[in-house]
Amino acid sequence: MKPVYERFIENPDFTKSEFVELIKCAEDPEAVRKLKEEAVRIREIYYGKKVFTRGLIEYTNYCKNDCYYCGIRKSNTNAKRYRLTEDEIMACCENGYELGFRTFVLQGGEDAYYTDDRMVEIIKKIKEAYPECALTLSIGEKSYESYKKFREAGADRYLLRHETANEEHYRKLHPEKMSLAVRKNCLYDLKKLGYQVGAGMMVGSPYQTTEDLAEDLVFLKELQPEMVGIGPFIPHHDTQFAKEPAGSVEMTLFLLAVIRILLPKVLLPATTALGTMDPLGREKGLQAGANVVMPNLSPVKNRKQYELYDNKICTGEEAAECRGCMGRRVASVGYELVTERGDAV
Ligand code: 5AD
Ligand code: FES
Repeated sequence: MKPVYERFIENPDFTKSEFVELIKCAEDPEAVRKLKEEAVRIREIYYGKKVFTRGLIEYTNYCKNDCYYCGIRKSNTNAKRYRLTEDEIMACCENGYELGFRTFVLQGGEDAYYTDDRMVEIIKKIKEAYPECALTLSIGEKSYESYKKFREAGADRYLLRHETANEEHYRKLHPEKMSLAVRKNCLYDLKKLGYQVGAGMMVGSPYQTTEDLAEDLVFLKELQPEMVGIGPFIPHHDTQFAKEPAGSVEMTLFLLAVIRILLPKVLLPATTALGTMDPLGREKGLQAGANVVMPNLSPVKNRKQYELYDNKICTGEEAAECRGCMGRRVASVGYELVTERGDAV
């Protein structure tokens, strides 16, 4: 019989147990090479050498949740909390627009200050000022009704990582109050409402097994998201996972390649967490099938405060510096950073 990675390349419609077998290939250099090569081939069929860019605006680090891995969890009393004003958010967009960004991502903790009405106002304001730009929300779990209001106000896309598709593992990463069922339900609601949806998970989070990762892949195949965000888990010093080891760059790259083959047209970022674990992590991500980068547009004065994990990169740079740096990084591996919206194809 052919090696499992060759079977996967021929027909990626794998079951959980086949994914388990596939993930074990992450140790086999020949398998890794072949999978990355195939991932790059596929990404170039749909997207050529283009890399899309999203301007990330981290507008609040207040959060009502208490996820054990996250630096801005509610019970971290050392976190210095901030909220951007509407004017500050608009200034980030303006700056981003000038730099060529045509997608803005509003990301924040689950912050009750931003009621549905306040969010709708901000969404409308951004879409009125920049009608040709895509607006992505990444603001956590909400009701169907809230998601509907945001969609009607003009939001185009929504990022909500599922974090892990295994119930037991989910329990080990989150307090009792949160549930995987609710999370998955949110993702399906978002799909129903016509958002381009992004799911995803951390790689190497505490207690994660190969079986868990296989379940993540099964779930992604079932959900068919337009976007998938994955990055290595990185410990944050003020959480109970402070002493846990970080996730591996190699495993993240391997999974990026697998996800590209599984969901050929997916919009797949080379994440900041990957760049934090390895100075060339994002470049390596692009060479494993990623086709999106998400530089930071948040005001420099707040960047360090949006600290989900330790040693996060790009916290000292002005947006323009980040944009320039990213352009060079993308070009260094033979790709081209483009300004178009980069919708799902
Ligand atoms: N390490 C890596 N990624 C993290 N995230 C949160 N905390 C960490 C961490 N310690 C990720 C989660 C979340 C996204 C916004 O950031 O997957 O969905
Ligand atoms: Fe942000 Fe390099 S991409 S400074």
